[in-house]
Amino acid sequence: MARKALITGITGQDGAYLAEYLIRKGYTVHGIKRRSSLLNTDRIDHLYQDPHIKKRDLILHYGDLSDSMNITRIIQECRPDEIYNLGAMSHVKVSFDVPEYTANTDGIGTLRILEAIRLLDMKNDVRIYQASTSELYGLVREVPQTENTPFYPRSPYACAKLYAYWITVNYREAYGLHASNGILFNHESPIRGETFVSRKITRGLARIVLGLQDTLFMGNLSSKRDWGHAKDYVKAMYLVLQQDKPDDYVIATGVTTEVREFIRKSFALVGVELEFKGVGENETGCVTSVNDSLFTERSSREHLKKFKTTISRDPHIIKVDPLYYRPTEVDILHGDPTKANEKLGWKPQYNLDGLIREMVDSDLILMKKESYLRKGGYKILNYFE
Ligand code: NAP
Ligand code: GDD
Repeated sequence: MARKALITGITGQDGAYLAEYLIRKGYTVHGIKRRSSLLNTDRIDHLYQDPHIKKRDLILHYGDLSDSMNITRIIQECRPDEIYNLGAMSHVKVSFDVPEYTANTDGIGTLRILEAIRLLDMKNDVRIYQASTSELYGLVREVPQTENTPFYPRSPYACAKLYAYWITVNYREAYGLHASNGILFNHESPIRGETFVSRKITRGLARIVLGLQDTLFMGNLSSKRDWGHAKDYVKAMYLVLQQDKPDDYVIATGVTTEVREFIRKSFALVGVELEFKGVGENETGCVTSVNDSLFTERSSREHLKKFKTTISRDPHIIKVDPLYYRPTEVDILHGDPTKANEKLGWKPQYNLDGLIREMVDSDLILMKKESYLRKGGYKILNYFE
């Protein structure tokens, strides 16, 4: 009999990669998707199977982490061997706008799953992975951060996740649940949500290179993050649940990089060298040189010509807009993955350069489609989030 996994947040970045990974391992994957007014399954459409097929390896259920009865019923119906709780309102800045919703989904949502397992008397039958986060470290108490570094959350998102972290530990200790936290540092990919900084940069770059926009407006350029690839990180989630004993693990690359440097590395891949000048809101990223052949190779001669005209008018293609600042910022995240390396045998395959290259390549392909549409006379919309 195939093992069964239930993934909340299956339509998100990690949910999609994890579903693919587990299906490849022979699992039957159940996923919870929210009802939305538009179809919202782009990331898992390639895994989707006709519901009329009897033996499917991906089965979707409508649900929401704010609905206890729904969560309990789904767990009762599919009786999974493993639950990966990835569902969350996961945007830190947005959590300042919707703090109560974030607490309900990201905090109490976790409790709903744990209580359902207790209620259904399934504690010996199921293992639970909780998607905890490096945001818990917030105003960091030490660098690098380990499993023993004290938490200091700096956003409604991180406060909600703090509750989820501790309630997971509590249910493990109080009731003997096999429940573990993965304290994951930032991880990105070509299917990362468009408003997280990495994807905003690679999409913005592609649009600039293809002449669809002139300037990229950013927030705090000095933040440092420990960025990995989501494909590596979903493997860690799986490994956490294969351990005999439940535990908590930091999953990180051990390398931290400024947002500014992420931007510089991305543009260098298309032959555009940037120099950052000024401070705070007045800082800009200014084009200092263009490698014509590399730029043309990644776009076209025509786009190179247009780009040169744009930068002759204003070479400051990166600007700061305080709109993207957060009321309280997390300045530096830098993880120490020693425990995961040693106990799980987990090591990331990607480094930052490989991650950025994959994201830039993918967004160039995506934006080329937009560029063709515009050439064909169709209206192209811009996004300023
Ligand atoms: P994501 O792309 O934003 O996906 C979040 C998922 O949660 C989506 O499927 C979303 O559904 C779903 N969701 C949101 N609210 C829900 C609700 N009320 N009920 C049920 N599902 C809901 O996030 P991700 O990057 O894949 O991250 C996965 C998890 O890891 C999240 O819990 C996140 O907080 C955590 N985490 C992420 C990182 C990272 O760097 N990516 C690092 C540490 C921890 P829709 O598609 O309908 O919106
Ligand atoms: N989103 C965004 N947009 N962030 C910007 C921008 C911008 O225009 N400019 C600078 N930043 C800075 C943010 O202020 C932050 O310091 C950093 O870039 C990273 O921002 P995000 O990519 O939005 O991610 P995050 O670190 O706040 O949160 C992500 O990682 C957490 C793990 O540490 C999310 O995936 C969370 O769900 C996750 O828990």
